[in-house]
Amino acid sequence: MCAVQATANGGLFVGVNEPADPNNLSDLEKKHLPVLEAPDEVTAGECFEVRVEVGKLLEHPNEHKHHVQFVDLYADDTFLARTDFTAVKTCPKTTFCLALHEPVQELRAYEHCNMHGTWVYRKPINVTG
Ligand SMILES: [Fe+2]
Repeated sequence: MCAVQATANGGLFVGVNEPADPNNLSDLEKKHLPVLEAPDEVTAGECFEVRVEVGKLLEHPNEHKHHVQFVDLYADDTFLARTDFTAVKTCPKTTFCLALHEPVQELRAYEHCNMHGTWVYRKPINVTG
């Protein structure tokens, strides 16, 4: 039988982590936020690039015992793509090419660290045309 235990730290690293105050980030938040760069506005159906980098604000370790495992890209709640990383041999940076055909509120990048769980970064985007 398996037992479910409450976490002593109140759930940090268990759910999806998001900074409480984006204007006052802790070092832990700076290391883990998957900074997403994309145009503020795109034309429906036209391809554009989205770049995601973990450690852009403060370098994240890239060791076998502690590393970034993957980055997922979503448009609102819709999964679009994933990049998997190999510890030491790859750097947690990736570029996606996508075309949005319908209006969305935001792009989201989810980053997963093997020690510190999942972190999300959100960027509003306007789809025109
Ligand atoms: Fe980490």
